[in-house]
Amino acid sequence: MTHAIEIKNLRKTYKGGWSPALDGLDVHVREGQIMGLLGPNGAGKSTTINILCGLVSPDSGSATIFGKDCVTETLTLRKMIGVVPQQIAMFSNLTAWENFRYIGSLYGLSDKQTKERAHDLLVRLGLDKHADKRINRYSGGMKRRANIIASLLHQPSLIILDEPTAGVDVQSRAMILDFLKEYNQQGKTIVYTSHLMEEAEQICDEVVIIDEGKFIVSGAPLELIKNTTDCKKLEDVFLHYTGHSVRD
Ligand SMILES: Nc1ncnc2c1ncn2[C@@H]1O[C@H](COP(=O)(O)OP(=O)(O)O)[C@@H](O)[C@H]1O
Ligand SMILES: [Mg+2]
Repeated sequence: MTHAIEIKNLRKTYKGGWSPALDGLDVHVREGQIMGLLGPNGAGKSTTINILCGLVSPDSGSATIFGKDCVTETLTLRKMIGVVPQQIAMFSNLTAWENFRYIGSLYGLSDKQTKERAHDLLVRLGLDKHADKRINRYSGGMKRRANIIASLLHQPSLIILDEPTAGVDVQSRAMILDFLKEYNQQGKTIVYTSHLMEEAEQICDEVVIIDEGKFIVSGAPLELIKNTTDCKKLEDVFLHYTGHSVRD
């Protein structure tokens, strides 16, 4: 199977950082998978994602998406990937429609195209009645769902989401996860970070656990549970590999 993402020996130390954020990280994501990038706080998940979408440049190593270099081919990649950042990336004093129209125009879509595409996604993510409301009137869960729509208007074949279900209510979370599964069934590759193991166990074909900027272990959730001593769920596997000490 082709690799959608190949990360090799990636290193990054931020200016003023006392230890590397990424310390020789290796990660592979196969095309068509839902892959969970898991790790404790500070493990390097967001740094990895920011390098993949060209926002942060690595010190060394390589990261490619569909064979294209994430550092030198950012513009080509931007059309192929959808990125949902950890922070809400929409204009809060504009309505959802106004945000989508603006984002669509950046991708060269006509207003009509944006409207058609956004409409389907709004219905699917339960926001069709709220499209004319300003984002600052939305709840946390609604903002997250709108943020996902914004990243999909150009119909990317790979979507990368950083903690898409963090801090949202149970209903929004279920809707987001169902949506991601459905999107994946349309042949799209999905990479997402989470610190919720139960959720990752439920939706991921494969997970990769990283810690202190390094690859620790990867595999299908059930396979990892079976192959790790005394583990009944993915959370046990996670604690087995990353320990019990608290990360701040
Ligand atoms: N912009 C930054 N400047 C300095 N240090 C950073 C920056 N972003 C992240 N770090 C540090 O890099 C490490 C990895 O962070 P991050 O990639 O955000 O981890 P995660 O998303 O897994 O919580 C942490 O020690 C964090 O404090
Ligand atoms: Mg993060």
